[in-house]
Amino acid sequence: MIFTIAVDGPAAAGKGTISRALAEAFGFAHLDTGLLYRAVGAKAGDPVAAARSLSPEDLARDDLRSMAAGQAASVVAAIPEVRAALVAFQQDFARREGGAVLDGRDIGTVICPGAEVKLFVTASAEVRAHRRWLEVGGDEAQVLAEVKARDERDMNRADAPLKPAADSILIDTSTLSIDEAVAQAAAIVRRRLG
Ligand code: C5P
Repeated sequence: MIFTIAVDGPAAAGKGTISRALAEAFGFAHLDTGLLYRAVGAKAGDPVAAARSLSPEDLARDDLRSMAAGQAASVVAAIPEVRAALVAFQQDFARREGGAVLDGRDIGTVICPGAEVKLFVTASAEVRAHRRWLEVGGDEAQVLAEVKARDERDMNRADAPLKPAADSILIDTSTLSIDEAVAQAAAIVRRRLG
């Protein structure tokens, strides 16, 4: 069976948690596409060359989850040639046999416009910054400023900006527990699977 679940939304909205839970529940493969951009941003040298030569070792680096790596990712993610170099890998993954969940910013709009399920997972900037702050610590106001700066860059770039696909279903996790958010998402997928 070929079945793609596209999960888009801003940083720390809960996309990754929901995507991993859906993959587990339905036995689908999961790709965190943000990791591709983080790996490109973390590599020294020309980002376009880095995107064209991305290797499994690049994706296994243990420093890709930091706030700094997220900011660097969103800078290189605005370069059209970087995005173009990563399209085929993501599309092949999405159409693999057995079902796939991809989370990112442009999965439902650009990478998989024909995805069987499209979710747009969001939450207020304050709630998202608070969640991120619980993980990384430091100054919460600074974390909020970084979250807003990344939103701004991701939503306003010319190529594949972050926005909900017209046919996506919105899940606002601002006041939901993880279990509630996952249950909503799973119910949507179950309905589509029939
Ligand atoms: O999801 P994550 O926070 O790991 O993504 C890091 C950055 O990579 C995002 O802020 C965004 O700029 C970029 N990204 C993207 N398209 C995707 C996934 C991530 O532009 N599909």
